[in-house]
Amino acid sequence: MATTHVIGLLLGAEEDWPAAFESLMERVAPAIDLDGETHRFAVERVTIEPFDLRAVPRHSLIIDRLAWWYNLPREWLKKVALMNQVHLLNNPFTFQSMEKHAAYCAMMRLGLRVPPTWMVPNKIPPNNPRMATTAERYLRQFELENVAEAVGMPLYMKPFDGGAWVGVTRIEDAESLHRAYNESAERLMHLQAAVEDFDVFSRSLGIGAETMVMHFHPSRPMHSRYSVDHGFLSAAEGDEVVTIGRTVNAFFRWELNSCETLIKDGTVYPIDYANATPDLAVTSLHYYFPWAIRTLLKWVIFCCVTGRRPTVDLNTQSYFDVADRDDLDYPAKLREYRRLADSQLDVDRYQEFCARHLADVEEASVEWVESDEFDRLLVNTVVSTYPVHERDMFLAHFRGLLGLWAHDQHVTATA
Ligand SMILES: Nc1ncnc2c1ncn2[C@@H]1O[C@H](COP(=O)(O)OP(=O)(O)O)[C@@H](O)[C@H]1O
Ligand SMILES: [Mg+2]
Repeated sequence: MATTHVIGLLLGAEEDWPAAFESLMERVAPAIDLDGETHRFAVERVTIEPFDLRAVPRHSLIIDRLAWWYNLPREWLKKVALMNQVHLLNNPFTFQSMEKHAAYCAMMRLGLRVPPTWMVPNKIPPNNPRMATTAERYLRQFELENVAEAVGMPLYMKPFDGGAWVGVTRIEDAESLHRAYNESAERLMHLQAAVEDFDVFSRSLGIGAETMVMHFHPSRPMHSRYSVDHGFLSAAEGDEVVTIGRTVNAFFRWELNSCETLIKDGTVYPIDYANATPDLAVTSLHYYFPWAIRTLLKWVIFCCVTGRRPTVDLNTQSYFDVADRDDLDYPAKLREYRRLADSQLDVDRYQEFCARHLADVEEASVEWVESDEFDRLLVNTVVSTYPVHERDMFLAHFRGLLGLWAHDQHVTATA
């Protein structure tokens, strides 16, 4: 028996990683035999059109980078999750309802060291005819400065459902506090204590059962925010960062998400980890881009061949049961969360599967990065991203970093 799995890409304006994914899939052309069945793969870009709620989609799995801002595809994803058992890398229900705020609450409940965070009523309340009476009766007058004092200055004021740094302000004094609050207008905001003088900003990208922990520099321009650095955390810190990312992902059922943590004096503070649908651009990930595409490919193949399917219900209580235990300290709780998360994310089964069926993908991905085809993709991306006078510089920059990745892979392979 033979099955061809259709992988749907749900995309907006981006062209680089989808083209890379398609090109690597074509090059690898997997044909995997398991239990008397041969599994093959086709990649299709999903179009946006009217749909019958009872229609049966062709897809086995969808990789989505569109639904976070476009509601029709988002509702289509919910339909295929509820009715058709299509595997979605990110659960659309938790992604819509568990914004940054809910993600803070849930992880605080697990004991994670999210900095002190308060929510304040919107500067401009909801536009509703009932608001005046409601406000008169129930909206308590409050001093913003008292809240800021309770949180601790300096702090960050940021939207409760934020992303992409929109509306994030660092607050150091009363004047900037009031200005930022006035500017927040209708947006609902958090005040969060700043982690000052941290040693490292780490951003980890979780793709299924794998995690890449990267050294991040938020104030640099986009193309150099990630630095190529392999020893910037101790083994214990690195393990904790991986555990936090995996726990978030398994808890909310996100298999493509990034997690930001600040590390200071050996303590890991998670600050932003509800980023399901993270940036995958070659111009920001550079050195780490081939890893991301290769891992996405391997994870997608694993899910389709082994029949990993999404479930709508979550098992939050199993995490809370660990959180509530008095006999466990924080490191012991983290170990339990990691055990639950690795099991939910099928880490062992995935590794065995990769070793058995996908061993040649590693080498194929290196050859691919060194190919003319990949170089053309890079050239196209640079041409469509940067103005003419910057293109040569950026092309040389990215070629250098991707060449370095390929070189490092050869070294690892022969070590
Ligand atoms: N508690 C904090 N301590 C230190 N820096 C912070 C804190 N919160 C936010 N920041 C800074 O602001 C940036 C944007 O905030 P973040 O919560 O990541 O929002 P977004 O979801 O928009 O990315 C972070 O990348 C970091 O540089
Ligand atoms: Mg962020």
